[in-house]
Amino acid sequence: MPEIRDVDTSDEAQLREWYDVWRAGQSHRRPDLIPSWEAAGRALATDPPGFELQLFGAFDGSTCAGVSLLNLPLDDNPTVVYADVIVHPDHRRQGVGSAVLEELERRSVARGRERVLTEVFRATRGDGGGSAFAEAKGYVEANREGVKAVDLAAAEPRWPALEDQVAASLGDYRVVTWRDRCPDEYVDSFGAALSRVMSLIPQGDLDLEDRDWTVERVRAAEQRRVRIGLATFESAAVAPDGDVIGLTGVRVSTHDPRTAHIGVTMVLPEHRGHRLGLATKLASHRALRAAFPECHLVTTSNAEVNAHMNAINEAMGYQMEETLVEYHKRL
Ligand SMILES: CC(C)(COP(=O)(O)OP(=O)(O)OC[C@H]1O[C@@H](n2cnc3c(N)ncnc32)[C@H](O)[C@@H]1OP(=O)(O)O)[C@@H](O)C(=O)NCCC(=O)NCCS
Repeated sequence: MPEIRDVDTSDEAQLREWYDVWRAGQSHRRPDLIPSWEAAGRALATDPPGFELQLFGAFDGSTCAGVSLLNLPLDDNPTVVYADVIVHPDHRRQGVGSAVLEELERRSVARGRERVLTEVFRATRGDGGGSAFAEAKGYVEANREGVKAVDLAAAEPRWPALEDQVAASLGDYRVVTWRDRCPDEYVDSFGAALSRVMSLIPQGDLDLEDRDWTVERVRAAEQRRVRIGLATFESAAVAPDGDVIGLTGVRVSTHDPRTAHIGVTMVLPEHRGHRLGLATKLASHRALRAAFPECHLVTTSNAEVNAHMNAINEAMGYQMEETLVEYHKRL
């Protein structure tokens, strides 16, 4: 049986050892879809406000053979835990994954959690054994998302024509874009819109509840992102009355700006049909491109059944890279 050891995330050597196994265990994926050490290290060492991260490794002597990340939401979804189980390819089919899973399920129960959610990435080079493992352990599929990426330099020539389409259908709506900190005049309605995300995006059987994005929580999340070196370009669609009714954001690490990631994109149902999704996405991509010309790739993921979002991504030049299968199990 491997020995389970907690990672002291303030110790860079321990964290780096954990990261190297986490990365090596995903070698079936396109390398630039996996956050680099420069981008991920600081994020792993700082709990997002409202969440507790626990990192541990399974050791064979002095060798770290497998790793886990537990993410416990503290304010919302109090019976859920998000978890990663990853085993180094050199140490598979020896029970390491089982030991890691047993430990994370034990910790989850101890913290009053009733359900574990975990992700398997299915790429053209396979899924690293993830689905067979998850299903052997009693996990069932809850949702499926397509992971997509766009090559910014190749896609940029498409943008002017899309911007013309957007201008023709915006009407009295406006698009506002900011970096890192939401302007005070929008922060209430920005938080209110964000608080509806989980109930508005297709999430299959994931059954996750909304997070209440108070102004304090929006500000705390913004401050943490700046602290860990993330630059955020947020674009909001604003209704004639001044309320934010749509939003999207793209984040890039200032320590390694080669690849950026989209957070959530959504337009409130009562304001759909004005191309606001496309408008906000174009604006945030423009802002990213202007500030970080060295960023060449943006990734996003969304439910396969989300036809409108898929159409926007396709228009912007996003291409399918892999499938993210979300599994869950009731403990
Ligand atoms: C999935 C993963 C964690 C399994 O780690 P592991 O140490 O090889 O797992 P175990 O040795 O404990 O396997 C337990 C059981 O899972 C099933 N299993 C694991 N890998 C499998 C594979 N490649 N094919 C078929 N069944 C598999 C088997 O039933 C296995 O029991 P057995 O070896 O007695 O037949 C590892 O392959 C990995 O890191 N993959 C990439 C990341 C990932 O997808 N993680 C899954 C999150 S749920």
